[in-house]
Amino acid sequence: MSKQVNILYISLSGNTKAFIGKLTQYFSKQGITVNALNVKEFPEFTKLKLPFVTFLPAFLKGGNGTDNGYTEILTTILGDYLAYENNYIHCYGIIGSGNRNFNKQFALTAKQYAKRFGFPLIAEYELRGTESDVLRIAQRIMEQQKVFEK
Ligand SMILES: Cc1cc2nc3c(=O)[nH]c(=O)nc-3n(C[C@H](O)[C@H](O)[C@H](O)COP(=O)(O)O)c2cc1C
Repeated sequence: MSKQVNILYISLSGNTKAFIGKLTQYFSKQGITVNALNVKEFPEFTKLKLPFVTFLPAFLKGGNGTDNGYTEILTTILGDYLAYENNYIHCYGIIGSGNRNFNKQFALTAKQYAKRFGFPLIAEYELRGTESDVLRIAQRIMEQQKVFEK
C-alpha cells in the first residue's frame, strides 16, 4: 500500500484546509505522508503525475437547490486545474463538502465534478468535519487508492 496521499483542493474560508490539517495529523500517526496543494494559494497550474484525491467545498450561486442554483462560483479554478493537461486522469476520487443548510445543494459541486470528469464521489462531510469524519474519510481514501493502483 502506498505510504503517501496526494491531495488537490480548494479552500476559500479555511474549513477544507482545517479538515485536511486534521486528516494529515491522523495519517502521519499511521506513517502516511500527506502532500496537499490548495489551488487558492498556488494558482499556477502544473502537470500532475502521481495519483491524488480532490477535495471541493460547494459554492453555488443562489437558488433553492431543487430546480435552480446549480451554478458554481469561486471554485472554478479547481476545475480548470483538473482539466489542465488532463490532470484529472490521475484523480482516484473526489470528496465534497458544504453546509447542510443548503439542503439539496449540499456538497453539490463535487457531484457535478464527478460526473464531468468521470471519477467517483467517495465521501461527503459538513464544514470542518468531525473526528469520525476524519476516520471515515481516511479509510475511504486508502480503499480508493488501492482500487486505483490495481
Ligand atoms: C457564497 C456561498 C455559497 C455557498 N453555497 C453552498 C452550496 O450551494 N452548498 C453547500 O453545501 N454549501 C455551500 N456553501 C457553504 C460552503 O461550502 C462551506 O462553508 C464550506 O465548508 C466552505 O469551505 P472552505 O472554508 O474551505 O472554503 C456556500 C458558502 C458560501 C459563502
